Amino acid sequence: MTTVIDGKQVAASVIDAVKTASQVLTEQTGVKTGLAVVIVGNDPASHAYVSSKSKMAKECGFTSVQHTLPEETTQEELAALVQTLNTDETLHGILVQLPLPKHFNSEAIVQSILPEKDVDGLHVVNAGKLATGDLDGGLVSCTPAGAMVFVKRTHGEDLSGLNAVVIGRSNLFGKPMAQLLLAANATVTIAHSRTKDLAAVCRNADILVAAVGRPEMVKADWVKPGATVIDVGINRIAAPEKGEGKSRLVGDVAFEECAKVAAVITPVPGGVGPMTIAMLMANTVIAAYRKAGRTAPKF
Ligand SMILES: NC(=O)c1ccc[n+]([C@@H]2O[C@H](COP(=O)([O-])OP(=O)(O)OC[C@H]3O[C@@H](n4cnc5c(N)ncnc54)[C@H](OP(=O)(O)O)[C@@H]3O)[C@@H](O)[C@H]2O)c1
Repeated sequence: MTTVIDGKQVAASVIDAVKTASQVLTEQTGVKTGLAVVIVGNDPASHAYVSSKSKMAKECGFTSVQHTLPEETTQEELAALVQTLNTDETLHGILVQLPLPKHFNSEAIVQSILPEKDVDGLHVVNAGKLATGDLDGGLVSCTPAGAMVFVKRTHGEDLSGLNAVVIGRSNLFGKPMAQLLLAANATVTIAHSRTKDLAAVCRNADILVAAVGRPEMVKADWVKPGATVIDVGINRIAAPEKGEGKSRLVGDVAFEECAKVAAVITPVPGGVGPMTIAMLMANTVIAAYRKAGRTAPKF
């Protein structure tokens, strides 16, 4: 029997743990966890993400601050806002929603966030801590952190002896995911667009993680029987069967056929997706614990 991971359910359990942790911190220290979310411009998808992040922060009992800036905001204005948020003692996490409008140097903005408030885990200090195996000192990018929760709930904390293949080498996902798997003792291969015979590489994986952005690229004969398959891709494709002009979301894995071979698999939607926001909340409460000089909870 194949297990299909219910990402919403796992995310809800993380959120419950975050709520408890945030309550305990307030009871013990008087500190209320605070998250600032910044959005620039009019991209409807980004606005939807940001409002669900702000809403979830409130649900977790956090102080939730949202800054909505117009498209014509300048680099200097946004940088000045980040500096203000960096020095605001009531805020433990700062998230600048990406992508920023084209006229911004996004990297400069991301790197100007204090590493200890960088709840997206994109600052080079946090990437470096992960790369050097300091998992308790930095903040880990939310989507790989969420995918790793699935891996650990399936295989336990120690992945010794297991082969893991990550398809994709982005700074946002592929690299941090590979580092997390390595830190848990898996034998890790990172595959990408230049990899030769990708199917054969994938067939070696006890844990196969796909983060490519190509609809249903991973086929059943790429999957080792009994493997755990984590699908990170989010691709919108035409769905004429639902009516003219309709579309639907699919992952990077051909779900129906791969589910017949895998032992554990995540669906799209409803797999990794819901975990990203849950891990953002987790990172924020972790940052608040550290700032208060307390040992941060693990999720
Ligand atoms: N919340 C979430 O659930 C969440 C969060 C983040 C991302 N995602 C989704 O995950 C996917 C990947 O995101 P990303 O930000 O990592 O994307 P990205 O920066 O575009 O990276 C894609 C990676 O896939 C590799 N690739 C492209 N074509 C390939 C091929 N034919 N064979 C093997 N590898 C190939 C690329 O290789 P090269 O480096 O060689 O070009 C690159 O490393 C997207 O669908 C995105 O929407 C979801």
